[in-house]
Amino acid sequence: MKLLHINASPRGANSYSLEVADYFTTKLAEHHEVEIDRLDLFAANLPEFGEIATGAKMALFAGRDQTNEEVAAWDAVRAVFDRFAAADMYVFNVPIWNNGVPYKLKHYIDLVTQPGWSFGFGPEAGYSGLMTDRKAVIVHASGVWHSDVGKNFGSDFSTPVLKDWLGFLGVTDVHDIRVQPTVLTADVEAVKAVAVKRASELIAIIYRALLLDHCGKTPFILRDARYLLRRKDVIGWYQIPNEPHHLTPRLNVRYPKQ
Ligand SMILES: Cc1cc2nc3c(=O)[nH]c(=O)nc-3n(C[C@H](O)[C@H](O)[C@H](O)COP(=O)(O)O)c2cc1C
Repeated sequence: MKLLHINASPRGANSYSLEVADYFTTKLAEHHEVEIDRLDLFAANLPEFGEIATGAKMALFAGRDQTNEEVAAWDAVRAVFDRFAAADMYVFNVPIWNNGVPYKLKHYIDLVTQPGWSFGFGPEAGYSGLMTDRKAVIVHASGVWHSDVGKNFGSDFSTPVLKDWLGFLGVTDVHDIRVQPTVLTADVEAVKAVAVKRASELIAIIYRALLLDHCGKTPFILRDARYLLRRKDVIGWYQIPNEPHHLTPRLNVRYPKQ
């Protein structure tokens, strides 16, 4: 499985959302074959989507030939999209900035959200996402905002924007991890611990879903089956609060006897 980790914080080792996202991807990779591609948006030197790139896009709409400059700009946008499209799963870590998403993430959204690439449109059906069959995990961080504060502590326009955008692209299997608040707290370590616990629970949920997906397609994944057989405690590991305990009979009968 290819996992694209999109890091929307420029704070490197000081970033709480990056730390939790790294924990999530590293732990997931311990349980499942995962190829991780990390995209640091603030270091990525993303191509501009200005006069030339918009010209290239409008040329397609108008059915006119792109100029040489427009062709080059459009190729650069396509390269960003191709990296996005290569992933089966996305992990975003996103700080709230001024009640919304950091500008580099909006830049990235404007690059990869293109008709015919990530979404389709028909005059009768309207929009349809083309990035289906993908999962996403979003690690949200904010200094002040969290779910228990009132309006005078700001807003979270980041979550609805990201959920709406992913849904627009057809990515509907979306999970949240929250590291909030990171500033308005006397104990940021406790805030982080809650996020790490949530990340561990999500790994169990996602790992189980991936395993079931695989088992639907192939008799069983030997590496995973061996892992489960070796680790009897994994059965306990599946018991997630508020989640039904599903080790389907199909899965069980397919395990080889020890
Ligand atoms: C430019 C900027 C704007 C911010 N705006 C908000 C905000 O509107 N609401 C909030 O709760 N925190 C805000 N913060 C605080 C960050 O969300 C907080 O420090 C968070 O931990 C950053 O995530 P990171 O640690 O992963 O970089 C802002 C921080 C920066 C640098």
